[in-house]
Amino acid sequence: MSASRTWNVRRLPAARDRTALVTGANAGIGYFVAEQLAAAGATVVLAARSAAKAETAMASIRSRTPDARLRHVPLDLADPASVKAVVDHLDTDRLDALIHNAGIALDDPPRRLDAYGRELMFATNHLGHFALTQWLAPLLAAAPAGRVVTVGSFAARSERLDLDDLQSVQDYDAKRSYGRSKLAQMSFGFELDRRLRALDSGVLSVVAHPGGALDSLTPPRAGLHAAGRAARVAALPARAVLQGKEAGAWPIVRAALDPGVRGGELWGPRVFKLRGVPRREPVPAHMADPETATRLWAASCELTGTDPHLGFC
Ligand SMILES: NC(=O)c1ccc[n+]([C@@H]2O[C@H](COP(=O)([O-])OP(=O)(O)OC[C@H]3O[C@@H](n4cnc5c(N)ncnc54)[C@H](OP(=O)(O)O)[C@@H]3O)[C@@H](O)[C@H]2O)c1
Repeated sequence: MSASRTWNVRRLPAARDRTALVTGANAGIGYFVAEQLAAAGATVVLAARSAAKAETAMASIRSRTPDARLRHVPLDLADPASVKAVVDHLDTDRLDALIHNAGIALDDPPRRLDAYGRELMFATNHLGHFALTQWLAPLLAAAPAGRVVTVGSFAARSERLDLDDLQSVQDYDAKRSYGRSKLAQMSFGFELDRRLRALDSGVLSVVAHPGGALDSLTPPRAGLHAAGRAARVAALPARAVLQGKEAGAWPIVRAALDPGVRGGELWGPRVFKLRGVPRREPVPAHMADPETATRLWAASCELTGTDPHLGFC
């Protein structure tokens, strides 16, 4: 089956029988992914550090979809114990979609570390999601057609991984380290699909990116986000090439729900890969290089201390 030509971002296929977990669903693009999946009828698990922020997000979703089925699980991606504990909090016997959305982008030096001494953007964006996939793999395998959707970025297009310095110890630049952490995530997403195919698994791994999505172009949501008038006016020229976070969620939601999407595909916005309705994109060679991905995978196993007995490392 090929991806549906008539995909309508505002008329999604019914997803009442699906359960999806969205990381970072309390804010930004992740919030809108949760809102759109809930409107389609899916049970949505909002994985977020702050229970209060998750409650606000759930209240906002319920104000639009009163019968939304929502839950919060605590998750701090930079804390391996928190990542491992997600499975204990989930209380589900299967997971149809796991959406790796949460992320941080630091603007300035100095290089920051998590509590385990790992560079913070690489640890949060890549290593946390890498480990989370491993812990949730049995629940994904228990679904009839489980999917992992990894949220990448255009920032990864111009970057290359330094496999001898994955955590930018030698040469830290905040923007470059962010781009490399997103490239690591995308490389992982494509490699995961290759490994799933080799195992003849029914689970798919898809990579999606939101284009360029600004808060100032994002529709307001009570208690969550409302760009001031000055910010909205200042952002008007940007609308020609960029979009809000509601639209940034579209390729991710399509990657999670379109029955025609295949594993190993890359989805993003149609116009300049920055804004608009979702479409499939060619995968840049450096993002899907198997040799780089194999070395990254081995390093990620070491850095996360994940359990080889689960067949992941
Ligand atoms: N916006 C864009 O133009 C753009 C472009 C390309 C790619 N992306 C990617 O899209 C995704 C979402 O971006 P966004 O613009 O929506 O970002 P955002 O508005 O800053 O939201 C980031 C989300 O990630 C969560 N998060 C951060 N650190 C976390 C941690 N240690 N554990 C758990 N959750 C954590 C945040 O939770 P808190 O509220 O607790 O901080 C928040 O929910 C990211 O992966 C980003 O790299 C965005």
